[in-house]
Amino acid sequence: MFRPNGMILYKTEAEVALMQQSALLVSKTLTEVAKVLKAGMTTLQIDKLCADFLQDHHAIPSFKNYHGYPHNICASVNDVVVHGFPNDTPLKEGDIVSIDFGLILNGWHGDHAYTFILGEVDESVLNLVRITKESLYKGIEKAITGNRIGDIGFAIQEHTEKKNGYGVVRELVGHGLGKKLHEDPQVPNYGKRGNGPVLKQNLVIAIEPMINMGTKDVFTDKDGWTVKTKDGMPSVHFEHDVCVKKGKALILSDFSIIEAAEKANVNLNSSYY
Ligand code: MF3
Ligand code: CO
Repeated sequence: MFRPNGMILYKTEAEVALMQQSALLVSKTLTEVAKVLKAGMTTLQIDKLCADFLQDHHAIPSFKNYHGYPHNICASVNDVVVHGFPNDTPLKEGDIVSIDFGLILNGWHGDHAYTFILGEVDESVLNLVRITKESLYKGIEKAITGNRIGDIGFAIQEHTEKKNGYGVVRELVGHGLGKKLHEDPQVPNYGKRGNGPVLKQNLVIAIEPMINMGTKDVFTDKDGWTVKTKDGMPSVHFEHDVCVKKGKALILSDFSIIEAAEKANVNLNSSYY
C-alpha cells in the first residue's frame, strides 16, 4: 500500500534535530496516554486525548486522512496487529493495546508506537511484550553506517522467530521517515544479514516490529485497514524513530518518559521489565 519512489533521502544535522523534536512530541503524547489509560476507557477517548494534546503544541496529527485513514491514532487491541480503528468499546482487564500515533511539527514527521498491558495477563503475553520490545532494540543496534537494511530485520527475526517461535508479520514493514510519513527504504522485520540498501549517516527510519504469539499470517478486516492475526492470538507492536549514525544509532523518540508514566499507573502492567 505504501509505495515510496525508490529514492533514499538523508537528513542534515539541523533536520535531524527538528525530527527529534517531532519524535519526542509523539513520545510526550504517548506519555499522556500512559498516565490515564485503564480498563473502562475507550480507544476513541484516547484518540481525542492525543489530538487535543497536540493543539497546544503547534503540531498536527498525520494519520487522519492519510490514504483515507479516518482517525488520529491506530489503536490495536489483542489480536489486532496494526491499523486498528479507535472505537467506543470499553477496554477491559487483560487487554493489550498498541497505540500508534504520528504528527507533523515544523514540516517533519514523528511516528511511533507503544504497547500497553491493562492489568493481569498470562505469563505468555508478558513474554511476547518483553521479547518484542527487546527485538526493537536489537534491530536499532544494527542501524549504524556501513550495515544494511537486512541486518536490522535479521536481528529482529532472530530474537522473535528463531529464538522464541513467534510469528514475524511479513506484509507490513518499517519505513523511512521525513517530510513524508513513508519514505524509502522499507524496513522489514525479517531478512538476511548483508542484504538490502547500505545504511548511511543521517538516514531516519521508523523501526516497528509487529510480532505475533502464534502464526505470522494476518488478514485485513472488511473496513480495509484493521490487520488481524489469522489464528486470533495476540500481537504486539513497538515503534521507534531512529537516525543512522556511525557506531551507535540515535533514537529520536523516547520510551523512558512513557515507561515512567506506565510504572506510576497502577492500572497498567509493566512487570515484564
Ligand atoms: N506506524 C504506522 C505505519 O507506519 C502508521 C500508519 S497509520 C496510517 O504504517 F493510518 F497513517 F496509515
Ligand atoms: Co510507522
